[in-house]
Amino acid sequence: MTAVNSTADTKWFTEARFGMFIHWGLYSQAARHEWVKHRECITSEDYEKYFDMFDPDLYDPRAWAKAAREAGMKYFVITTKHHEGFCLWDSKHTDYKAPNTPCGKDLLKEMVDAFRAEGLHVGFYYSLIDWHHSEFPCDKIHPQRDDKEFREKTKGRDVSKYAAYMRDQVRELLTDFGQIDILWFDFSYPGEDGKGHEDWESEALVKMIRELQPSIMINNRLDLPGVGDLVTPEQYVPTEAPTDEDGNPQVWEGCQTFSGSWGYHRDEASWKSVPMLIQMLVNHVSRGGNLLLNVGPTARGEFDARALDRLQGMGEWMGRHSRAIYGCTQAPAEFAAPLDCRYTWNPETNRLYCHIFAWPFKELHLPGMEGKIKYAQLLNDASEIKFRETKADVHAALNAKTPQGAVTLELPAVKPDVEVPVVELFL
Ligand code: GLC
Repeated sequence: MTAVNSTADTKWFTEARFGMFIHWGLYSQAARHEWVKHRECITSEDYEKYFDMFDPDLYDPRAWAKAAREAGMKYFVITTKHHEGFCLWDSKHTDYKAPNTPCGKDLLKEMVDAFRAEGLHVGFYYSLIDWHHSEFPCDKIHPQRDDKEFREKTKGRDVSKYAAYMRDQVRELLTDFGQIDILWFDFSYPGEDGKGHEDWESEALVKMIRELQPSIMINNRLDLPGVGDLVTPEQYVPTEAPTDEDGNPQVWEGCQTFSGSWGYHRDEASWKSVPMLIQMLVNHVSRGGNLLLNVGPTARGEFDARALDRLQGMGEWMGRHSRAIYGCTQAPAEFAAPLDCRYTWNPETNRLYCHIFAWPFKELHLPGMEGKIKYAQLLNDASEIKFRETKADVHAALNAKTPQGAVTLELPAVKPDVEVPVVELFL
C-alpha cells in the first residue's frame, strides 16, 4: 500500500498542548457509557427511544466554549457521530440526526461557531463504526453480534455502500463548517470478524480529505500504514514519547477521561482529582505530547458540576503556569529531571520548567545542571529561588552537600499554595 504524503499543519497543535474532547450523543441519556448499545446488546428498535426523547433544552455551546478556554484549552474535538450512528449535524445523507429529534436543530454549527469565537481550533471526531446504518455489516463488536437470526438476515449488507456514505458525510463535514483542523477517526479492528482499511476504503477517504482540506490533521486510526498525523494513545500515558519505525519522534496526543466513561455517566465514582489531572497534563507535555481531556455533557446539554469543578481547577493552575505548557515539549536528554519532578522545556525561550509533584524538604538537587542556570524563580509568583552549585558548597560543612555536577535549589519549607508548583529555570 502506498503511503499518502501528508500536508497537515501540526505547528499550532504542538504549541497548543491542551484540548477538550467532547462525547455527546443519544447515549448521554442512558448515562451509563457511550458503548451502552454494544454492552447491553440493545437492538436499534429498542434504542429508538433515545432518539425520540433527545431534547437538550439547556444546550448553550457558548458556555462550553468558555469553560474550555478558561481551563486553558486551545482546541476541541467533538463527536459529530459516535458508534451509535447518530449525527449531531443536519446531514443530507441520513435521517438519524439531531434536527429530527425533539431538539429539532443542527447542534454542530452553533458549537463550532462558539468555540471559534473563544479562539479555539476545531476538530471533528467521526466514528468509522456505525451500529445504526443499514449497510454496516454485523461483526464481533456489533450490538447484535450474538444474534444468529440478525446475522443471517443482514448478511447481504454491502460495506462499500457504507464506505460511500462515510465519504459523503465527511465531505459534508469538511465543506459546510469552514476550516477544520483535525479529523479524528475511530476506530479500526482488522482481522477476523472485524473491520479495517479495506472496509472503510480508507485510501479513497484520505485522498478526498486531502483535496478538501490539505492542512487538516488526520489521526492514526484508519488502519492505513503511512497515514496518521497524530498518534492517539488512549486511557494511559506513555512512559516515553512514541517514535516511528525509524526512531523519529511522532506527534502524539493522549486522550483521557475524567472518570472512565467518555459519554456522560451519572453513577461513575472514579473521578480524577484536579492535582492528578494537572500532573497528567504535565506528564503528556514532558514527553512531547498533547492532552485531549474529555467531557461528556448531559442529555440536557450541560457540563455537570463534577466536570466544571475539574475544568475550573485546571484553569486556575493554567492561569499562572501555562507558560510551562504552551509551546513546551520534552527537555533535551542531557537534562534529567530529579526525583518526583517532570521537566518541560520551551525551545524558543530556552527555559526549563521543573514541575514538582512531591514537595521536598528545603532542597532540590538538579543533576547535571552545574553552570547551566542563569536565574530561577517560582512560576506562580515570580519569586526568586536561590541556588548553589557544587563548587560553592565545599566550605559549608553543615549544609547538605550538593551532589557533583548538580545545582541545588533552595526552596521554601512550605509548598506554595498551588496544586503543582513549578520552578522556571532560565538557561
Ligand atoms: C474508544 C471508544 C470510544 C471513544 C474513543 C476515544 O476507541 O470506542 O467510545 O470514543 O475510544 O478515544
